[in-house]
Amino acid sequence: MEAVVLVGGQGTRLQPLTLRTPKPMLPFAGSPFLSHLITRLRAADVDHVVLATSYRPEVFHEFFGSGRDFGMRIDFVTETAPLGTGGGIRNVARRLESGPDDPVLVFNGDVLSGHDIRAQLEMHRRREAAVTLHLVEVDDARAFGCVPTDSHARVTGFIEKSDSPVTNRINAGCYVFTRKVIDLIPEGRVVSVERETFPGLLETGEMMLGYIDTSYWLDVGTPAAFAKGSADIVTGVLESPALIAPPGEALLQEDAIVHSGAVVNGGSVIGPRTKVDAGAQVTRSVIADGVHIAAGATVFNSLVGRRSKIGQRTVVANAVIGEGVSIGADNELTGGVRIWNDAEIADGAIRFSPLP
Ligand code: GTP
Repeated sequence: MEAVVLVGGQGTRLQPLTLRTPKPMLPFAGSPFLSHLITRLRAADVDHVVLATSYRPEVFHEFFGSGRDFGMRIDFVTETAPLGTGGGIRNVARRLESGPDDPVLVFNGDVLSGHDIRAQLEMHRRREAAVTLHLVEVDDARAFGCVPTDSHARVTGFIEKSDSPVTNRINAGCYVFTRKVIDLIPEGRVVSVERETFPGLLETGEMMLGYIDTSYWLDVGTPAAFAKGSADIVTGVLESPALIAPPGEALLQEDAIVHSGAVVNGGSVIGPRTKVDAGAQVTRSVIADGVHIAAGATVFNSLVGRRSKIGQRTVVANAVIGEGVSIGADNELTGGVRIWNDAEIADGAIRFSPLP
């Protein structure tokens, strides 16, 4: 079984952490985000993965190599200029080995899902669909394009974001394509599957199915979602074959030093060689390697890049702290703030007071 994973995006919402590392390669529950998807694919009998890369392809090569350590073959195809989701899928077609009528799995490289991949494939095969999309139900669909289906699970439209969505079912970013449908996507130009390929297939009457599944699903594109997804794997809310330790309140990686008077909880990850001093508290956060969190500091629902320092009594909440950042004592960095790589913040320089 073959799968294509789209990993060419720039991950702007997670900058500055994505300036050096593409989003799918950021540390997540103890190993790069993509390794959780790759091990899940392996467990679903996928033995050949083609990564559609564009931004910083060397980072993927270095970690995954030939794929042998993951029990599969991994190929890389790099776009010279980003081709979008459809263009990226078309661009890897020459590396696929499936026959024209075989199913090929296609994943966005930034979704975390516990859905039954085999059941989605089975529906696609049984109904001989052109494309079968995984659809999920969200509480508030206003921020997403939505995908209505009829009583036979046939997709009836792709509707852009609106204030009054006709359904709360949205595209979950995991598709089964019949191989020959991939070959029909125009070559060598930017194509969006959501805006061009799928609406085009509907217009020509191709059978597109919605596989609806209500198990765990999260798009980890924002800092808050990234921290939540990592914590959900660490605590065992979602099982991942790539989790390197039994589920628990926190994951301490090799040579992490957490003082007995510090609290680390909520599914936080403390990266290799990171030090957390007495009285510090780290909750639902992803802390990279070589970080120092000084005494009495609080880090909540945040991402902290490698080699950064959080000063004594400083509060970091709902924030992204880049790499090599030095934050002095007694600061308050909250409310979605992002601190760029190598920035230096003096003691007591920033206090956050919500507007009245
Ligand atoms: P933001 O910039 O924060 O929106 O993130 P992103 O760049 O990852 O974009 P988005 O979340 O919309 O992308 C969804 C998925 O498609 C991600 O897995 C991206 O890596 C992937 N992707 C987006 N654009 C391209 C592209 O041009 N080529 C390839 N190969 N993959 C892409």
